[in-house]
Amino acid sequence: MRRGLSSETLLRRHRGPARLWIAVAALVAGTIWLSSSSSVILLGTSRVQDFHVNELWRTADANGWRASSAPRAYWPPPPTESESNGYVRVRCNGGLSQQRSAICNAVVVARIMNATLVLPELDTNSFWHDESGFVDIYDVPHFIKTLKYDVRIVMSVPKITAQGKAKKLRAYKIDPPRDAPVTWYRTTALEKIRECGAIYLTPFSHRLSEEIDDPELQRLRCRVNYHALQFKSNIMKTSSDIANKLRSEGHFMSIHLRFELDMLAYAGCIDIFSPKEQEILLKYREEHFPNKTLIYKERKLIGKCPLTPEEVGLIIRAMGFHNTTRIYLASGKLFGGKRFTKPFKAMFPRLENHSSVGSGKLEENTRGLARSAVDYMVCLLSDIFVPTYDGPSNFANNLMGHRLYYGFRTTISPNRKALAPIFMDMEEGHASGYEERIRQVMFNNRFGAPHKRIRPESFYTNSWPECFCQMNTRNRADQCPPNNVNDVLERRYQKRKI
Ligand SMILES: *[C@@H]1O[C@H](CO)[C@@H](O)[C@H](O)[C@H]1NC(C)=O
Ligand SMILES: *[C@@H]1O[C@H](CO)[C@@H](O)[C@H](O)[C@H]1NC(C)=O
Ligand SMILES: *[C@@H]1O[C@H](CO)[C@@H](O)[C@H](O)[C@H]1NC(C)=O
Ligand SMILES: *[C@@H]1O[C@H](CO)[C@@H](O)[C@H](O)[C@H]1NC(C)=O
Repeated sequence: MRRGLSSETLLRRHRGPARLWIAVAALVAGTIWLSSSSSVILLGTSRVQDFHVNELWRTADANGWRASSAPRAYWPPPPTESESNGYVRVRCNGGLSQQRSAICNAVVVARIMNATLVLPELDTNSFWHDESGFVDIYDVPHFIKTLKYDVRIVMSVPKITAQGKAKKLRAYKIDPPRDAPVTWYRTTALEKIRECGAIYLTPFSHRLSEEIDDPELQRLRCRVNYHALQFKSNIMKTSSDIANKLRSEGHFMSIHLRFELDMLAYAGCIDIFSPKEQEILLKYREEHFPNKTLIYKERKLIGKCPLTPEEVGLIIRAMGFHNTTRIYLASGKLFGGKRFTKPFKAMFPRLENHSSVGSGKLEENTRGLARSAVDYMVCLLSDIFVPTYDGPSNFANNLMGHRLYYGFRTTISPNRKALAPIFMDMEEGHASGYEERIRQVMFNNRFGAPHKRIRPESFYTNSWPECFCQMNTRNRADQCPPNNVNDVLERRYQKRKI
């Protein structure tokens, strides 16, 4: 779907700073529990040559859809302490985004099992060498409160009294199968939790199937991901300060670059580096990944190589973005140094990152997970987001899903495989007509408009249709819940407590 160019569209889709800050305030306060509104606009179709790149600064056509993750069917309150089947502990490994989807899964698992969830543990020994736990990154009271109609959450496994002595309930350790189906939790895991009183699921990344038949459980995932999981106020403040600064002269674009040591070593795309750099990459590869012979040209042609900063610059420029565009770069340490960033910076001089745009104070408390969290928020708030490397539950994938939910905000997703022959030709000295070729690939894109999730697209990248609804539709499954859904849930919750 492409943006229409009618004057009505232009008028109605103008996104001024006021609207943004209302949205940010809502995010911060967590008041968009029910639905996050996005303007309802019918789209006209336009051909590639009609397309004006400035259209992309606006959100995509919602086509009557709005984000909504409130229950649409009977949704009983979670079991009370005495009714609970036991306690579920989870250890979420991986980086920020992998942990984030693991937390969503943990809430769903606790719900499925009528169990009490212990505040998820975030693996601190991961790549980022960071000591942050859940309480350092996320707003815990908000998390517990937002999910009160869904699961009971406690800070730790309680002490029990056995033979007159108080002791901590030992959680039975289980390594669940990868992408375990709901039935596994309803049988194997349930049996264990009933037997032991508590289970410890570790590791817990990708341990619940992404595709679940029950749309109510999928909506619960969205409630966790887009409403309950709110970063702590210092992270939110830092992020909105950065977004505010970048937007002071108008809109800005964020780019997630995954041109980092671990990713390059993993992808095995090393030929473009100096012998010394290649040595570092090969060593890292040997230490962390299985021994496979990877041929650069083959990897590149199937779209497995992360885009270089220069390639990203060429894409953005070919699409017609002006060289004064403000760009926020979300990335860890870029590998290969200035040699790779210089060409990009020459094309787009107004390039910023969290340390160049933030204050000194920011630097101190934005390492590791917290720094990732700031990058995540700034990318979420940006007018245009450009992911350059995607993979299961990585940063870019989750952001695409979040931006879709947060009002169909523009995402420009380069098709690396389609672009690869163009860049290969350029590397071999055949550059003529490359800009037009890039445009042909790039404008064949949805740019963050609603579209049905198609396997293997991840639920965390696209929660449409489950977490979106329409006000006026004959299709009951897509019908928005009534406005008083919260009151209904609250009444049921109160009744339960009496
Ligand atoms: C959970 O509780 C509901 C009633 O609230 C019940 O219908 C369901 O069978 C229970 N499931 C398990 C696994 O205990
Ligand atoms: C990796 O595999 C290649 C052949 O595929 C072999 O020549 C090489 O010795 C292997 N290296 C290690 C460290 O096992
Ligand atoms: C940016 O584009 C303008 C023309 O629109 C040109 O005059 C200027 O030199 C460019 N700046 C850079 C840094 O490329
Ligand atoms: C951020 O930008 C500054 C200034 O351009 C640069 O010196 C620094 O290396 C960048 N940091 C990262 C992590 O890219």
